[in-house]
Amino acid sequence: MSYSIKLTKTEETRLVGIDFDTLPFGKTFSDHMFMADYIDGEWTNLEIKPFGNFSIHPACLALHYGQSIFEGMKASVDINGNPLLLRPEMHARRLNASARRMCMPDFPEDLFIQALHQLVDLDRGWIPPSKGSALYIRPYMFANDEFIGVQPGQTYKMIIFTGPVGPYYPKPVRLLVEEKYVRAVEGGVGEAKTAGNYAASLLPAKLAKQKGYDQVVWMDAHEFKYVQEVGTMNLFFVIDGKVVTPKPTGAILKGITRDGFMTILKDKGIPAEERDISIDEIVEAHKAGKLEEIFGAGTAAVVAHVADITYRDLTMDLPPIEDRKIGPMLKVEIDGLRAGTIEDTRGWIVPVKSPVNA
Ligand code: COI
Repeated sequence: MSYSIKLTKTEETRLVGIDFDTLPFGKTFSDHMFMADYIDGEWTNLEIKPFGNFSIHPACLALHYGQSIFEGMKASVDINGNPLLLRPEMHARRLNASARRMCMPDFPEDLFIQALHQLVDLDRGWIPPSKGSALYIRPYMFANDEFIGVQPGQTYKMIIFTGPVGPYYPKPVRLLVEEKYVRAVEGGVGEAKTAGNYAASLLPAKLAKQKGYDQVVWMDAHEFKYVQEVGTMNLFFVIDGKVVTPKPTGAILKGITRDGFMTILKDKGIPAEERDISIDEIVEAHKAGKLEEIFGAGTAAVVAHVADITYRDLTMDLPPIEDRKIGPMLKVEIDGLRAGTIEDTRGWIVPVKSPVNA
């Protein structure tokens, strides 16, 4: 169905003077944002308006008990300047999977998609044309009740804003295998894209940075034996020509980039499997000279190459990026789909609709 979204355009764009070539990640925001309220069991007050502050009550439920979820996605332009989205319906679905786990209401998928099209179309001038850059899209929902009893909210806000971004990690990252703190455990909320998972990652990441690493490798919470994720990303290994990634069994985010990589690998006939991967297996593979690549996979970075990984007192160096095949190939594929230079045979690319041809 088609929803009526009230539109108030900015009086003056802030786009003038933005240098797309020197963009840091996440500090620049486009002209408009979408907002909606969940009140009395339905989504209402649908509007797109100038990006800006809004006020919330000091007792806002989400600030106290963390009923807050988000998505991260990107819009790009093809070589002819047409704006494109990549698999937006996957993000709509995952937002609702997170919502269900966090006891929050679903946001209608068709409204999510319509809001994305209208917002990105309106701010299409904010999509950086350069390779490796994109318009990052941040949909999020939080409980907005003015109440501090511990119970599911009855009112929620859904917001989508966007901002042009450059690369997330400018260089290959150095990893430390985390053996004290955990990110998630089966039965917890590790599969949900919820704010608290990211808060939980901050202290271990800060401690690792103080030791000279960029991020931690999260291990399983029972034995610290099996690898799970890296920083805020899914984790991939290439061992002796085969790609392996941990199987999501409740504690790992089901990444959409991760899913895309597995599909591309299968389509290309490259052996790739999801299974438990122990840190001992990684150490053995490194000793045998078979650990060819490690990379993180996420929307923000797409592929984050790993320079080295430290487990206890053993630092395992990975081959130089020029010698790697899989991670660079996957990045080229995603960038090519986003630029329209690689044919989309899977129906992943969705051209942004303008009201005139909606
Ligand atoms: C991603 O890899 O896309 C992330 O989840 C990072 C984001 C929270 C900035």
